[in-house]
Amino acid sequence: MPVSIGIHDLSFATAEFVLSHAALAEHNGTDIGKYHVGIGQESMSVPAADEDIVTMAAAAAAPLVARHGTSRIRTVVFATESSIDQAKAAGVYVHSLLGLESACRVVELKQACYGATAALQFAIGLVRRDPAQQVLVIASDISKYELDSPGEATQGAAAVAMLVGADPALLRIEDPSGLFTADVMDFWRPNYRETALVDGQESINAYLQAVEGAWKDYAQQDGRPLGEFAAFVYHQPFTKMAYKAHRHLLNFCGHATDEDAVARALGRTTAYNTVIGNSYTASVYLGLAALLDQADDLTGRAVGFLSYGSGSVAELFAGTVVAGYRERLRTGANREAIDRRRPVDYAGYRELHERSLPADGGDHSTPVQTTGPFRLAGISGHKRLYEAR
Ligand code: HMG
Repeated sequence: MPVSIGIHDLSFATAEFVLSHAALAEHNGTDIGKYHVGIGQESMSVPAADEDIVTMAAAAAAPLVARHGTSRIRTVVFATESSIDQAKAAGVYVHSLLGLESACRVVELKQACYGATAALQFAIGLVRRDPAQQVLVIASDISKYELDSPGEATQGAAAVAMLVGADPALLRIEDPSGLFTADVMDFWRPNYRETALVDGQESINAYLQAVEGAWKDYAQQDGRPLGEFAAFVYHQPFTKMAYKAHRHLLNFCGHATDEDAVARALGRTTAYNTVIGNSYTASVYLGLAALLDQADDLTGRAVGFLSYGSGSVAELFAGTVVAGYRERLRTGANREAIDRRRPVDYAGYRELHERSLPADGGDHSTPVQTTGPFRLAGISGHKRLYEAR
């Protein structure tokens, strides 16, 4: 009898500060309707000077370790596209901050926003081989574009941590997966840049082509018919993109594209992303958290996932929501992670945006700003120094 494998627990963290789109619109003279309605964003998380992908990741994963212990975690897969080192995996810092066992493998994965789904699928393979082990999958990213560029309104930051194991308490992940890869330059960030380069319209087209390609492959492998899905969770660079994508999928499958059908399928999946912004690898799994926290009972229902990463790679797969899942949710803590953010005005946001660690790796102490459980204290001798608070 095949083992059922999937997401046993899920927790997320975001950044210390929040900038409202109203403040951004006031600065650049944009009609607020473009942000609230046009792209579907209300605010974005802005990291403090002493936060990065490691501090957010450790904050996201700490509640999983507190609930389940460390003894079964034999692998940590850290997905990110805002990596802090070309050699050392960011997950090794998290392993240390959380006191994970030394008998553990830790690795970092990258393919733009798609990376966390690769991590999830690799985790499933490892658990299939040894159903006693659990894999800690972490997706952590800071989305940063040039000031005053079209992408600026789609920034954000968050980390999602998922414990993947046998007999999961939240979601069983199913076979098959629909896969799609195409070599396109829609969005990329060369090693010498802190901010991403993007061709906005091309990136939207590339995403839609990837939805189509991944669905085609999924259908060819006898995946579920579209009508069986209770909800669809999409990667959300901005929440209106999920609407564009689902409309495109319905149309491609010859279904009516009335707005009620689209809104029903997306349900509450956009509730967290609309106030957090683009969190790249974490985005699609923040969509899952919002759906499980806020939708009516989904026990036994199929949820579709469309994970997209520019460049581009996409994967479409299904999960079935497990009986009793509601008792394992972290709805209160998730709300708190969002509500605890401190509002920052435009000038404060701009200062944080322009601040960066010394490019030559010279010794540097970061100001104490975060009130989160972990902080980046500074750099000494080219080494990042983290502390638990
Ligand atoms: P833009 O040029 O600032 O905006 O770029 P626009 O003129 O295209 O307007 C956006 C929408 O607002 C339009 O709606 C307007 O009509 C509407 P649409 O036609 O698309 O339905 N609008 C209004 N609505 C109501 N009231 C108003 C109003 N004014 C306009 N007053 C763009 C927008 C998203 C391109 C830009 O923000 C950008 O470049 N963002 C970054 C790239 C991006 O997010 N791409 C998404 C797909 S790629 C992806 O998902 C991967 C990614 O996450 C990276 C990774 O994989 O690592 C980015």
